[in-house]
Amino acid sequence: MRLTFLIFTLTFMNSYLVTGAVGQLGQCFQTVAKEFPEINLFFTSRNELDITRSETLENLFSKNPFDGIINCAAYTVVDQAEKEEESAFKINSEALQNLIAFAEEKKLSIIHFSTDYVFDGNSSEPYQEEAETNPLGVYGASKLQGEIRLLKTSCKNVSIIRTSWLFSPFGKNFVKTIAHLAKEKKELKVVEDQRGRPTYGIDLVRAVLSLISNKTIYRFPILHYANKGICSWKEFAEAIVNTSGSETKVLGVSSSDYPTLAKRPKYSILDTERIERELKIEIPLWNESLKKCLQILKSNESL
Ligand SMILES: NC(=O)c1ccc[n+]([C@@H]2O[C@H](COP(=O)([O-])OP(=O)(O)OC[C@H]3O[C@@H](n4cnc5c(N)ncnc54)[C@H](OP(=O)(O)O)[C@@H]3O)[C@@H](O)[C@H]2O)c1
Repeated sequence: MRLTFLIFTLTFMNSYLVTGAVGQLGQCFQTVAKEFPEINLFFTSRNELDITRSETLENLFSKNPFDGIINCAAYTVVDQAEKEEESAFKINSEALQNLIAFAEEKKLSIIHFSTDYVFDGNSSEPYQEEAETNPLGVYGASKLQGEIRLLKTSCKNVSIIRTSWLFSPFGKNFVKTIAHLAKEKKELKVVEDQRGRPTYGIDLVRAVLSLISNKTIYRFPILHYANKGICSWKEFAEAIVNTSGSETKVLGVSSSDYPTLAKRPKYSILDTERIERELKIEIPLWNESLKKCLQILKSNESL
């Protein structure tokens, strides 16, 4: 009986190496992992696995073989990327090729994350997975090049999950920044002419692990996931301030009043019908998930 169970477990166990596990999304995976005991995740920080160095992968694999790689490692500093083009492409594209080559050789699957910034934001309707890409900046271009490499591979299975406006209790993100500022400032000026769909990292990871668990994640090479509801950065900031119980006033400004090194898409709405309708994933409203995130931050006394 025990042996049968062991054989069953070994045959059906999904084991994945998670890269960039100390980043925002990586920490979301670490938090949600316990809800999916049928999936084995091996977490690696940048110190343990620098994805620009392929020899480490071989070492890790020989000690602890896995069936796939979940790549949370990325260069994500959007404005800085305009000055560090080489680094952005090295991590978001060339290093990804290391993972791809390794996955091809060992017949592994790859789950990778990408961004709404592969689009230019000139659309007037939500971006479907096959919509034309046209990144406005270096970060988006480097992420798009990574996507293209993945779509050309002969890896066993590939899943590219595009998401947008990521927030969580971990790492650096808009929710944490605004919640901190709301404790110090009477007034905040926030851009009101860029619209998007905020995404709670915990919801995103729960969806990804559910799709791994029910084996549907590889049905489509690209999936969009963003929380339900659309807002501007100003409206997002207002919700953060109000939910935190702060009196801080949020004033809207236009992108031209708040120049940044990288141009950002004005309309960053990912269409999530595919993951909802075809793969039966229920997506929570961003403002409901925001409440959960702020509660966690408050109870951890990070606010
Ligand atoms: N954040 C967003 O709003 C957003 C929106 C849409 C899509 N995404 C995508 O979602 C994914 C996760 O983003 P995130 O917010 O979790 O980013 P993050 O917090 O910046 O995490 C990225 C992690 O990758 C690590 N890393 C960088 N270079 C590495 C290398 N050579 N080898 C191994 N690890 C390396 C970073 O380590 P260091 O900290 O030491 O550099 C960091 O821990 C990315 O693919 C991103 O493009 C993010």
